[in-house]
Amino acid sequence: MNKNDYIIRLETKNDYREVENLAREAFWNLSFPGCDEHYFIHVMRDHESFIPELGYVLEKDGKIIGNIMYTKGKLADENGSEKSVLTMGPLCIHPDYQRKGYGKALLEYTFIKAAELGYDTIINFGNPDNYVARGYKSCKKYNICFEGDVFPAALLVKVLKENALDGRKWFYHPSNADEPCGDADAVAEFDRLFSPKEKAWQPSQEEFYIHSHSFIK
Ligand SMILES: CC(C)(COP(=O)(O)OP(=O)(O)OC[C@H]1O[C@@H](n2cnc3c(N)ncnc32)[C@H](O)[C@@H]1OP(=O)(O)O)[C@@H](O)C(=O)NCCC(=O)NCCS
Repeated sequence: MNKNDYIIRLETKNDYREVENLAREAFWNLSFPGCDEHYFIHVMRDHESFIPELGYVLEKDGKIIGNIMYTKGKLADENGSEKSVLTMGPLCIHPDYQRKGYGKALLEYTFIKAAELGYDTIINFGNPDNYVARGYKSCKKYNICFEGDVFPAALLVKVLKENALDGRKWFYHPSNADEPCGDADAVAEFDRLFSPKEKAWQPSQEEFYIHSHSFIK
């Protein structure tokens, strides 16, 4: 990867189907047989929590090979005070271009844009391998949990400004933009708009199971 061989720009309406197709290629069979991220992206754009100012694509040789999206989430403390945060995701790079630094470029570019918009904390649920080198830390280190004092191993926090979090306990409330993905028929119907792809098992699905069922004590 060379700094001059790609551009990062905001997604436009004309990109929608190309970005959905990219996500389908990148996430296919990754977490379970098939994927729903292309549908998630599709419905997210119309959700009130979606932040179009942070919906970026990475273009190389006239082709979109990466995308990143953010939604608004919130933290609530034990006294009911609230704080706005960003939830990052999905983020993907086309399989032909992975592990060359493009994901890093997209993330770091949008960290700057997010800070310019006034956000100081980003949260996402993901494989720590992909994020710890970008400065993400376990939610436990910042005392951020789900209701019931649950600290998932895959709940990762990136602080954009020093002292953005002061150590008090925060409960994380992500957007519910992904709720339509629970409708398997809607996901399958949407998927039929794309070229046929074979659903199959692959080891990353077991990795996903382990990460998404692990908690920090
Ligand atoms: C995850 C993903 C977005 C990362 O983008 P990428 O362009 O492939 O990754 P990069 O080359 O920018 O590397 C980013 C970091 O990943 C890690 N990484 C890179 N290669 C790795 C490898 N072979 N094994 C484990 N981790 C690796 C490193 O931490 C690296 O940071 P560093 O370069 O500072 O060490 C991309 O691989 C992808 O789209 N994967 C499929 C979809 C997905 O999993 N999305 C994220 C949902 S949680």
